[in-house]
Amino acid sequence: MSAAEEASRRRTFAIISHPDAGKTTLTESLLLSGGAIRLAGQVAARGERRRTQSDWMKIERDRGISVASSVMTFEHAGLVFNLLDTPGHEDFSEDTYRTLTAADSAIMVLDAAKGIEPQTLKLFEVCRMRDIPILTFINKMDREAQDPFELLDEIADKLQLDTAPLYWPAASGQRFAGMLDLRADEFIVFGRGDDEAGSSERIAWTGNSVAGVMDEMVHEELSEGAEMAREILPNMDVAAYREGHMTPVIFGSALRHFGMAELLGALEEFAPGPRAQTAQVAGAEKAVEPGDKDVSGFVFKIQANMDPNHRDRVAFLRLSSGEFRRGMKLKTAAGKLLNVHNPLMFLAQDREITETAYAGDVIGVPNHGALRVGDSLSASGKVQFAGIPNFAPEYLRRARIKDPMKAKHLRKALESLAEEGVTQLFRPQIGSDMIVGAVGQLQFEVMVERVAAEYGLEVEFETAPFNVARWMSADDPKLIEAFMEKNKAATGTDLDEAPVFLAKNAWDVGYAEEKNPDIRFSATKERSV
Ligand code: G4P
Repeated sequence: MSAAEEASRRRTFAIISHPDAGKTTLTESLLLSGGAIRLAGQVAARGERRRTQSDWMKIERDRGISVASSVMTFEHAGLVFNLLDTPGHEDFSEDTYRTLTAADSAIMVLDAAKGIEPQTLKLFEVCRMRDIPILTFINKMDREAQDPFELLDEIADKLQLDTAPLYWPAASGQRFAGMLDLRADEFIVFGRGDDEAGSSERIAWTGNSVAGVMDEMVHEELSEGAEMAREILPNMDVAAYREGHMTPVIFGSALRHFGMAELLGALEEFAPGPRAQTAQVAGAEKAVEPGDKDVSGFVFKIQANMDPNHRDRVAFLRLSSGEFRRGMKLKTAAGKLLNVHNPLMFLAQDREITETAYAGDVIGVPNHGALRVGDSLSASGKVQFAGIPNFAPEYLRRARIKDPMKAKHLRKALESLAEEGVTQLFRPQIGSDMIVGAVGQLQFEVMVERVAAEYGLEVEFETAPFNVARWMSADDPKLIEAFMEKNKAATGTDLDEAPVFLAKNAWDVGYAEEKNPDIRFSATKERSV
């Protein structure tokens, strides 16, 4: 198969949802239906193993949130699915944003009783920013749900999306009987047994054929509802979905494995394969096509200490073009050369070394800090994708080590965690403070746990003399040098030695901007390498 044909078999997608809507359960159930795992409970089991390895996952368990994201690959129906896991907690929304840069489509999971929740809305905005097509899965139909018309209205209102139901549910909760396939005119029976494979019987939707599977009232409700849905709601339009104007809707129960075959089917039928991506190639703007010969991709996530015994660092590289082969040399646009001997592929329960990979695939590249989030890699070294921005942190804290003899170790630990891109490390010009920036409070708690578990150090985060960080740039670098000289106590550098203004508050930033009109004070930094 050619690289283009291989790429077109890929479906790289993420699941977005408000915490508790059922993302974890759905992930597991999808992997089960896709044949990637055999028994329910294995994703959790894998999680358990990881947790015993690194204690910081305790936070995740205690709070019932998912703070680590990873990728799971499985083959089904001749396609290769790459499921990118995104953290649901809003303190990790930047991480999610980056993960979504690597996805070609998304599944939005809603709790049928709750509809659109605040975090769903935020994550949806990110998808919209990146024009990512969205499939909607309305979960927990086995519990009392809102009226389906109300749910679809809410999606249309709050997200400005046309909703095209592919199925229509027969009641919910105790009375939930299954759903009608609106296109095939077949009824899919919700089995009340403990069927782990989630197989569901389909029966033709004619007259009395469904008499045995639902009572008369439910039948009547379903007939009316489905008829009305057909009349007033739009039909599925693949082009509108791919442009991000329409979302196909599927109902189900992740816990009871109902609707999984239908969800996978919709991914197969509608979700786009890897898209062409705009990049600077040898200085000129070009669309990089999945079938292009030059192997290229970009790093959207770094994870340090996946195996805490080995201080390893894995860069997650989303491939955009070409046929990657193990042992290949890839170059960053800045000319750094990497020999990729052990590219990792992440399966549902395992990771293994892969021999080949294509556009749409995500490979893990073990490295010792050479790679950063946003780096472009290619065989030619000439491809530069638009960077992935760093956002200015919302919170700045001074890191303090309990044992001052270990300050150097702490700096190393903070640097390596900052390389993941989730937190940032600033070094003021004066003094030896280590200022850590994060977009949410929870990240400091995670850091304390991780620094303890992965480096054996006790760190505390205390109030910093600064509250706002802004990256500085100017056409004439001398202006920045002069500004830094004049404001020694309020300037410093980040992990990449980029100059940063560390201000007490937003007013200070405004004042500095006014006095230095030729310096740009920016809340985002797009690493161009
Ligand atoms: P999240 O990753 O989006 O945060 O959600 P998660 O899958 O952890 O699910 C949150 C809760 O909702 C879990 O219950 C889970 O069992 C339940 N759930 C998920 N899908 C369904 C569904 O289709 N039907 C029903 N009835 N429940 C569902 P929990 O009590 O918080 O956890 P647990 O003790 O059951 O694991």
